[in-house]
Amino acid sequence: MQVAMDPADAKKWFGVAPPDLTLEVRAKGADWVYAYMRGFYKDETTPSGWNNVVFDKVAMPHVLYTLQGEQVLNHKTLELELVKPGKLSPSEYNAYVGDLTNFMAYMAEPAKEQRKRIGLWVLLFLGVMFVLMKKLKTAYWKDIK
Ligand code: HEM
Repeated sequence: MQVAMDPADAKKWFGVAPPDLTLEVRAKGADWVYAYMRGFYKDETTPSGWNNVVFDKVAMPHVLYTLQGEQVLNHKTLELELVKPGKLSPSEYNAYVGDLTNFMAYMAEPAKEQRKRIGLWVLLFLGVMFVLMKKLKTAYWKDIK
């Protein structure tokens, strides 16, 4: 996935260049990416003012905060609380981020569905061959005691 941002500039701005999102779901798993995109909270001690429950001191700012709103971490219950609502309701935001994560999962391996379909035929073929070979073996060995 090509982005317009120059990696050298990104390193200067954020301290670390953003990763290639094409393979992100393969690297971390879809559940992790989904939790990550929902897990940003305000933290004045970090350079961007954001932190993340699944990626402590992450360098990425919460780019979707206008949609999700602002969350804070309740340090007693360790739960996130929405203190300033965004343009989307929490369930709408979850659905939005779910779609985004699904797209990233598709992008990480577009041939996945094809791989699964072919795999089924391969297993069927092996199953049929197993029965035939078993019958053949019985026929070959039937006169040998
Ligand atoms: C909706 C769009 C975006 C998505 C889905 C996304 C997703 C992610 C994910 C999943 C990671 C964690 C990578 C890892 O495994 O280490 C990450 C890291 C990062 N992202 Fe984003 N990102 C988005 C937009 C942006 C934008 C617009 C910026 C810059 C303004 C940015 C800057 C970064 C940086 C600097 C990191 C590295 C964080 C670190 O290692 O501390 N991201 N992003």
